[in-house]
Amino acid sequence: MRIEENKSLKNYNTFGIGSNARYFVSVETIEELKRALSEKPSEELFILGGGSNMLLTGDLDAFVLHINLKGIEILKATDNEVWVKAMAGENWHAFVQYCIAKGFGGLENLSLIPGNVGTAPIQNIGAYGVELKDTFESCNTVEIETLKEREFTKEECAFDYRNSIFKNKAKGEYIITSVTFRLTKKEHKTSISYGDIKKNLAERNIETPTLKDISEAVIAIRQSKLPDPKVLGNSGSFFKNPIVDSETFQEFRRNFPEAPFYEVSPTDFKIPAGWLIEKAGFKGQRFGDAGIHKKQALVLVNYGNATGKEIWQLAMDIQKKVKELTGIFIEPEVNVF
Ligand code: EPU
Repeated sequence: MRIEENKSLKNYNTFGIGSNARYFVSVETIEELKRALSEKPSEELFILGGGSNMLLTGDLDAFVLHINLKGIEILKATDNEVWVKAMAGENWHAFVQYCIAKGFGGLENLSLIPGNVGTAPIQNIGAYGVELKDTFESCNTVEIETLKEREFTKEECAFDYRNSIFKNKAKGEYIITSVTFRLTKKEHKTSISYGDIKKNLAERNIETPTLKDISEAVIAIRQSKLPDPKVLGNSGSFFKNPIVDSETFQEFRRNFPEAPFYEVSPTDFKIPAGWLIEKAGFKGQRFGDAGIHKKQALVLVNYGNATGKEIWQLAMDIQKKVKELTGIFIEPEVNVF
């Protein structure tokens, strides 16, 4: 374990922003993690996972702790179920592929999501009708203040759409060190009703899809819409899909009867932020090296040398114009520092 100074984080965030960390260390064991926390050279602490859901708008005058814990372990199994524990630093997609290769079902719809296992619960990652919470069993953490280890059950995590206790009550208090998933071995509860998945499987003449078939469909859909961060810097969806009350929704519908929407409950309606941003005329636009993806307006991109401040400015311009035009407030999904 070596603490570095003034380290560039360009290769540690998928937006490819070249901010510097005042102090930086990558920890590979829980012992190293605890040692780093007790030796911390700066009061300000910054926990870094896969760097796939954040925007750095300047240098970090902080101690950046890169969670690089590795390992996958099968804890127990029954005839039809298996409990698999993955350490926080495992790459999410590689872990999903490991599960599919073993025939463990439940994570296939979450293929190709950037980031690491340990940060996935924080925002309850979700795609194509499935969320992390659907297979989450528990996670282990280290409490930053006391260095004590604590397990969180699913209930304690208080999962919601792109949300959990780690973004609210417990924010900044714990470091997730591993996550345990409860997956299926035989009777898989596959979710293929999402339009594009159905279409992809039909195109390939697949009637009873395997886990691998579903994963391949998801990968193809994501690759057709979402930019690969290794090629074009981005952080996935920059904004959350807004959920509005009936009154706001009725008013919106009067002005935009053609807009897609999803009824979350009789009083709550989710509107795709991508549609709103496209309606506001931003899709495919480029301002210097900051831009809005051509195929999915919800994704902001860095064409090479955009600064975090430029991307943030663009996000705020989008937010303002969408509000003026549609009356709907869209909120960033990425964490901004
Ligand atoms: N739409 C547009 N224009 C656009 C983009 C979308 O009109 O530029 C419309 C589409 O036509 C469709 C609707 O918006 O009617 C929904 O689009 P899509 O299915 O692409 O999904 P999304 O709501 O834009 C969400 C997640 C994605 C996830 C997909 C698939 C959020 C914030 N985003 O996007 O998650 O992959 O559904 O399940 O909930 C991420 O979080 O980083 C992410 C990529």
